[in-house]
Amino acid sequence: MVKHFLSLRDFSKEETNKLIDLALDIKKNPSKYSQVLSGKCVGLFFEKPSLRTKAAFYIGALQLGGQAIYYSPDEVQLGLREKIADVARTASQFMDVAVLRTYSHEKVLEFADFSAIPVINALSDLLHPSQILGDLITMRELKGGIENLKVAYIGDANNVCNSLMDAFAIMGGILYIAAPKGYQPEKRMLDKTKSYCIKSGAKITITASVKEAAQMSDVVYTDVWVSMGQEKERAKRKKIFKNFQINDQLLKLAKKDCLVMHCLPAHRGEEITDSVMESKNSVVFLQAENRLYAAKAILTYVFGKS
Ligand code: CP
Ligand code: NVA
Repeated sequence: MVKHFLSLRDFSKEETNKLIDLALDIKKNPSKYSQVLSGKCVGLFFEKPSLRTKAAFYIGALQLGGQAIYYSPDEVQLGLREKIADVARTASQFMDVAVLRTYSHEKVLEFADFSAIPVINALSDLLHPSQILGDLITMRELKGGIENLKVAYIGDANNVCNSLMDAFAIMGGILYIAAPKGYQPEKRMLDKTKSYCIKSGAKITITASVKEAAQMSDVVYTDVWVSMGQEKERAKRKKIFKNFQINDQLLKLAKKDCLVMHCLPAHRGEEITDSVMESKNSVVFLQAENRLYAAKAILTYVFGKS
C-alpha cells in the first residue's frame, strides 16, 4: 500500500513518536541515512510561495541520496492546465514521491486518490502537518513531550492551528487557542479531534481571552494573521487581530522559561513584536531548522525505511 503523509490525524501517538525519534536520529546521525532515497526522485508541486518547506523537502531529498524537481506555482497549475488526476498519474510515471503545497485541501486528497506514489502535504489551506511535526521535534528537544505541556496558540485558527490541534488530540497535553470570535477553530475541525482527545486525554480549550490562554503556559505559539490567499482581507484582519499579538506584556503571563514559537514567515509588529522575536525565549530559528529533519523523516517513512 502507498504510504502518504496528508494529515497528522492519520498517525497514532506511537507512530508520531516514532517519526519524532526518527527525525532526531537523522539529525544526530545524518550519514546513516545518506542513501535512503538513492535512485529516487522527489517532485515538488507548489501553488504558493515557500522558503522553509521547499528547502526542507528539496535539500532533504538530496541529503538522503535522492534527487528533486521543483514545479513553481505557474508551471503545473494543478487542476487548471490539466486535471489533477492526470497530473497525479503522470507524476507517478516519472517520480517516486510527490510533495504538494496547495490552496484547497481537496486538491491534495484528489492527487493522493489517483497517485501510485506517496503524496506529502506540504501545506494546504486546511492543514500544515509537516510544520507541526517539526514543532513536535523542537518541543521534544527543549521540553520533552507535549503531553506534559500547556501550549497557548494566539491568533488565527488557520492551517497551522488545525494541525497543532491534531497533534494535541493524538499526543495529549493542554492546548489553549485564543482567537477573536469568527476566527476560532471551525466546529467540524474540533469535532474531528474529539474521539482522539478522549483517547489521549488531551484538553483543547477555545477562548477569546489571550490572558486565559497565555497564563502559566510552557509555550506561546503564533502565526500570521493573513495567510497565503487571504491578502484581500489584510486591512480587516489587522484590525480584528490587533489584541492577539505576542508582545512583552503577554509574555509576562507565561512561565519565565516559556518557548516562543512561530512557524515563520513572521510579520513583525503584527502577530509578534521584534522584541519577542529576538528574546531569549524565542526558538523560531530552531523550529525552522527542524523542518529539515521532519521532512527527511517523512521522506524516509513514505519509502518504508523507518
Ligand atoms: N513555515 C513554512 O511553511 O514556511 P514557508 O512558507 O517558507 O515554507
Ligand atoms: N498560515 C500560513 C502559514 C505559512 C507557513 C499560511 O498558510 O500562509
